[in-house]
Amino acid sequence: MAVATSLMRAALGNQVRGIVGECGGSATCGTCHVYLDRSTEQFAPPTGDEDEMLEWTAAPRAANSRLSCQLVPTQESAELVVRVPAEQV
Ligand code: FES
Repeated sequence: MAVATSLMRAALGNQVRGIVGECGGSATCGTCHVYLDRSTEQFAPPTGDEDEMLEWTAAPRAANSRLSCQLVPTQESAELVVRVPAEQV
């Protein structure tokens, strides 16, 4: 995976099932919802549009819920593990 690419774009580029990315990454659709496993501290907590949109995702929001379009992994994120919800729309 290329660094400086959002997790959503990397997922779409690698045909990861369950990531839709309908809005193209503007945090307005919630179809890139993921659950971070053991890696929530790697990213700043969700704020603003992401925090608001997480209230409207198809699958329930959890403490480790994020919009993958707002997550840009770094070299230190090499062991990033995420789960895709059962539904996105
Ligand atoms: Fe739409 Fe992430 S792609 S909220």
